[in-house]
Amino acid sequence: MIIVANWKMNGTKEETSSWTSNISLSSHTIILCPPFPLLDYAVTLSKDKCYVGGQDCHYESSGAYTGFTSPTLLKKIGCNYVILGHSERRHLETNGDIQKKARAAQEAGLTPIICVGESRDLRTAQKHLGFVEGQVRECTVDLKNNYMIAYEPLWAIGTGEVCSLDDIEGMHSMIKSLVPVEVLYGGSVKPDNAKDILALSKVDGLLVGGASLSAESFNRIIS
Ligand code: PGA
Repeated sequence: MIIVANWKMNGTKEETSSWTSNISLSSHTIILCPPFPLLDYAVTLSKDKCYVGGQDCHYESSGAYTGFTSPTLLKKIGCNYVILGHSERRHLETNGDIQKKARAAQEAGLTPIICVGESRDLRTAQKHLGFVEGQVRECTVDLKNNYMIAYEPLWAIGTGEVCSLDDIEGMHSMIKSLVPVEVLYGGSVKPDNAKDILALSKVDGLLVGGASLSAESFNRIIS
């Protein structure tokens, strides 16, 4: 299984140090995605315990883009993954932008983790499957197969409300019918629901936000 710790805009050097020393050795693929200024430090400390990934990247490898980070730099400092198209960034970027970033990330040697997911309104209107299908199709044009999809319904992120197991399985089945890659679930994953979600046949891993910040709760998820 693949378990991603998305720290979002949280964490310090001290917390990175304590987290990397306190997380358990695991047979799962663990990927820590802290804020940019902590990436280098996280790479140094993670050693054989986990991989490190960025939370976004640009589609150019360098240039006059103030405030952005290139996939080439992420790779050079030792990252292996990058989260792209997280819903907390989607007001800034289109599916086309995410596809360009994903291609650039692959060319730089990173594995993109492309986030997709519908709003509450789309689900209520029963348009969620078609909407997510469109996101997957548009974000993955011309990609090689070394990427992952993270299905994160917007209404489940940070709310404590989790998608039902049947709905997760249904959405993951649809995504897997479109693209031959691993599909992760994200949105209010906690130690007490991780096991049931991971037991679903179409779930290849988890993208964990809030519950990944403490090594103690993250250890309960990975165990
Ligand atoms: P959450 O966040 O686990 O805090 O809901 C998940 C995510 O946004 O990646």
